[in-house]
Amino acid sequence: MTWSRNVLAAVLILGCTTYVYFLYIQPSVHNCSSDGRLFAHYTSVVREQTPKKPLLLIWAIPLNIKFDFNDCKKYYNISSCDLTYNRSLYQQADAVMFYQKNIRSVAHMPQESRPQRQKWIWYNVESPSNTLKLPGINNIFNLTLSYRRDADIIARYDVVIKDEPDDHFVLPKKDRLVCWMVSNMWTAGSRVRTAYYKELTKHIKVDVFGLGFSVPLPAERYYPMMQSCKFYLAFENSAHKDYITEKMNGPLSSGTVPIVLGMPRDNYEEFMPGDSFIHVNDFPDAKAMAQYLLELDKNDDKYMKYFAWRRFYTATPHLLTTKNEFTQPTCLACNHISRDNRYSVVHNLYGWYHSSR
Ligand SMILES: *[C@@H]1O[C@H](CO)[C@@H](O)[C@H](O)[C@H]1NC(C)=O
Ligand SMILES: *[C@@H]1O[C@H](CO)[C@@H](O)[C@H](O)[C@H]1NC(C)=O
Ligand SMILES: *[C@@H]1O[C@H](CO)[C@@H](O)[C@H](O)[C@H]1NC(C)=O
Repeated sequence: MTWSRNVLAAVLILGCTTYVYFLYIQPSVHNCSSDGRLFAHYTSVVREQTPKKPLLLIWAIPLNIKFDFNDCKKYYNISSCDLTYNRSLYQQADAVMFYQKNIRSVAHMPQESRPQRQKWIWYNVESPSNTLKLPGINNIFNLTLSYRRDADIIARYDVVIKDEPDDHFVLPKKDRLVCWMVSNMWTAGSRVRTAYYKELTKHIKVDVFGLGFSVPLPAERYYPMMQSCKFYLAFENSAHKDYITEKMNGPLSSGTVPIVLGMPRDNYEEFMPGDSFIHVNDFPDAKAMAQYLLELDKNDDKYMKYFAWRRFYTATPHLLTTKNEFTQPTCLACNHISRDNRYSVVHNLYGWYHSSR
């Protein structure tokens, strides 16, 4: 069903592109030598058809953190749309983005009628356990923006394929064994990981950072700390499909082996090579895992096998400052609306999001 719809969409897109090509571009090329006037006519048509950049309005500013819109170009080479926080531009906006945590009720959403072409984007980076279901939200959005692979706009930190294999990796200097950075140990979803951590510390030393602060370590301390550890506890606060966050990207991009807890290994292996991390489920209990880590600590050859993937793939450090917490997803949304002109409606938003763990 999805497959046939995709094929249909592909055929339509190809058909339309070909049509536009013949309509505007082909005749001008064809006529340019024989009829300069006609050529001029067609090129002006082409120029008029060149759309101006679409406008993306950020309706509710995520956690009230504003970032510099030039950062889209600076960090992600994205400049295909204009961004604004100015609600007075609602009628002109091609898309409006709503940060789930900031929509307190439908009453806080635009009350004016929605322009025909305008798309509303539901933006959420929290896992289903941490996502409140607001009434009245079904059937009002056109696009979803999330870490889920089946969202319309996917915001994640992905391992990517290198253009050429290379062996340049140099292991950073290590003076810590196991590290963990955690801002909240006791929220509801965190009990499983906290229990595992406590069990683990009975058998191996774990250096903990960031405890008691709700903000992450500043950038200048985060990566050096990460690099100095042989292993890092990349424990998610809840287990949900595709919910593999920057906790995983930090160690992968730093040259540290992530130890993961969250979804089963299968889901992780959809996003990163299976030999790039250790999964808590690989062991019967924390004690067995601690023994394995101590063994790797004494055996460099075995430890280095966890970096073999780097010959072919690479992980990119993510932006750390609070100011840039929402930069990447917003830039991706901007890029998406500049390319996507499909009609779409999200019917059962929470049904989709809260299903299939
Ligand atoms: C940035 O994007 C432009 C146009 O999309 C492209 O031509 C250029 O090669 C990109 N630059 C980099 C550094 O990726
Ligand atoms: C928002 O846009 C309106 C309409 O273009 C403009 O008059 C107003 O000055 C803008 N406000 C800000 C804060 O930029
Ligand atoms: C967006 O969704 C709304 C409500 O579901 C729908 O009425 C509207 O036609 C959709 N617009 C586009 C451009 O997809």
